[in-house]
Amino acid sequence: MSSHTLTAPAMPQAEINQYPRQDLVSIRDLTPSQIDGIMQLSTRLKARPEDFRTALSGKHIAMFFEKPSLRTRLTFEAGVCGLGGSVSFVDQTHERLDARETLKDIAHNLERWVSAIVLRTFAHATVERVAEFANAPVINALSELEHPCQALADYFTLYERFGDLKKVRLAYLGDGNNVLHSLLLTAAQLGSKIRIATPEGYGANSQILIEALEIANHTGATIEIMTDPRRAVRGADAVYTDAWVSMGHELEADERSRIFPPYQVNDKLMACAPSHAVFMHCLPAHRNQEVTDAVIDSVRSIVFDQAENRMHVQKAILMLLAGSASRMPTRSNHA
Ligand code: CP
Repeated sequence: MSSHTLTAPAMPQAEINQYPRQDLVSIRDLTPSQIDGIMQLSTRLKARPEDFRTALSGKHIAMFFEKPSLRTRLTFEAGVCGLGGSVSFVDQTHERLDARETLKDIAHNLERWVSAIVLRTFAHATVERVAEFANAPVINALSELEHPCQALADYFTLYERFGDLKKVRLAYLGDGNNVLHSLLLTAAQLGSKIRIATPEGYGANSQILIEALEIANHTGATIEIMTDPRRAVRGADAVYTDAWVSMGHELEADERSRIFPPYQVNDKLMACAPSHAVFMHCLPAHRNQEVTDAVIDSVRSIVFDQAENRMHVQKAILMLLAGSASRMPTRSNHA
C-alpha cells in the first residue's frame, strides 16, 4: 500500500496580507475609526437583528472562561446564535487554561477548528499568548488588566443616550480595575471626557494611564484623575462604579470595605451630579456596598441597557474580527 502525504496548498504571502491579523486583547487593538464602526454597526444590529441572521453562518466560536460569568457568557452565546454561528463553551474555572498543555499547543489546535477564540482569564498574559500563537482572532472577555467588550458596550450605551461621545463626560468612582482601564482607553480613543476618582493606592494601572494620556494628546480626549468623588461627578453626564473587590482580590475584602465607603454611589452623591446624569455599572452589583438600591433601581439607572448592549456590541465585534475580513487559515505563519 502506498502512503500519501496530504499537503494544503500554501497561501501566497500577498493573499495573507489581505487579511491582516485582528484580535481584541486590548482596546488599543482597535483604531478610533474601528470603534466608531462598531458603534454604527451595533446600532444597526440592535435595530434590525433579522438583517444579520447569517452573518456568521458556518463559523464556530470557542469560549474558555477561567472565571464565572452571567452577562459575558450569555451575550456571546446568544449573539453568535443570532448571527447564524455556533459556539462551544468550556468551563475553565477548575484550573488555569495552561494547566494541561501549553497555550501554544492549545492555540494551534483551536485555530484548526474555530473562527474565533473568546477568553476570560486571570492573567492578561494568557490572552496575549493565545493571540500571539493562534491563527484565529482572539477576543478578551475579561482579564485582570482589561475588559474591552464591556467598555465598548458602555460607550455604545452612552452613544445611544447622548449622541456625540466627544461631548460626553463620564465620572468613574471606586477601584482602579480592568473595567476602568478599558473605559479609559476607549474614552481616549474616542476623544471623550473621563474623570476618575479612586482612593489613594487604588488608582488605575500607571502604564494604562500613560498610554491613555498619550492617545488623548492625539484625539483631544480629556482625562482627569482625582480622589474626591463629589468633585468627580460635578458636570458629569454619567456616574459609573464597579465592585470594590474584583475577582481574584477577595483576600483584600475587609481592608477595602474600610477604605471605599466614601465612593459609594448613593442619593447624596448623585445629587452632586447634574439632574440629567445617569448611573452606570457593569454588574454584578454589590447592592448597598458600591451602590445603593435607591440609585441602581432609580430611573437614572441604565445598567440593564448596558447589559443588553453587551450582546449587540459583541455581535459587531465578532463580525469585524471573525467575519469575511478576518484572518484566513494558513500553516505558513505558525510560531
Ligand atoms: N459585566 C460582566 O462582565 O458580567 P459577567 O461577569 O456576568 O460576565
